Amino acid sequence: PFQRGAAVRIVLVGPMGAGKSTVGSVLADQLGLARFDSDQLFVRVHGPIPDYFQAHGEPAFRAAEEELVGEVLSHHEPFVLSLGGGSVLSAQTRSRLGRGCRVVNLVVDEHTALDRLDGGVGRPVLAGDPVRNWLRILREREGLYREISHDTIDTSGLSTEQVAHAIIERM
Ligand code: S3P
Repeated sequence: PFQRGAAVRIVLVGPMGAGKSTVGSVLADQLGLARFDSDQLFVRVHGPIPDYFQAHGEPAFRAAEEELVGEVLSHHEPFVLSLGGGSVLSAQTRSRLGRGCRVVNLVVDEHTALDRLDGGVGRPVLAGDPVRNWLRILREREGLYREISHDTIDTSGLSTEQVAHAIIERM
């Protein structure tokens, strides 16, 4: 059984609206672990994500995201880390996750996801046609989520606590 405060590195991946941030904070509380969230780290260092996208473009965002995630992975342990949905696009991040992290893929259907995201507010990659873009982006990334994860949990219809519980139970 899982020991509170054990030396684990739990990383939550999956599309926008899967609940990575909310599940990450509940999980960290329950397990007595430090908690990191790549989007929050990003905002703290670089300001709001939509503003950054507009000023510098997506490639600059990805480079900055990769660097922040790399810092967490190399300097901290144990932890629960919630990653922005596109973090897995980085080969460097994927390879770093392969070293000693338990990666959990949170999946969700598009309607539940967009409900949780308030229709896509603050997510520049969804701008225009949020449902269509969400589905297209998922198709581009689902192979990567699957490839790097040890466990997959469908969060549609589950509460944050239920997802956290499922993650702990299956470790
Ligand atoms: C993105 C997901 C967002 C955020 C940025 C880009 C993506 O994070 O990093 O808006 O490309 O999927 P969440 O997955 O936490 O919404």
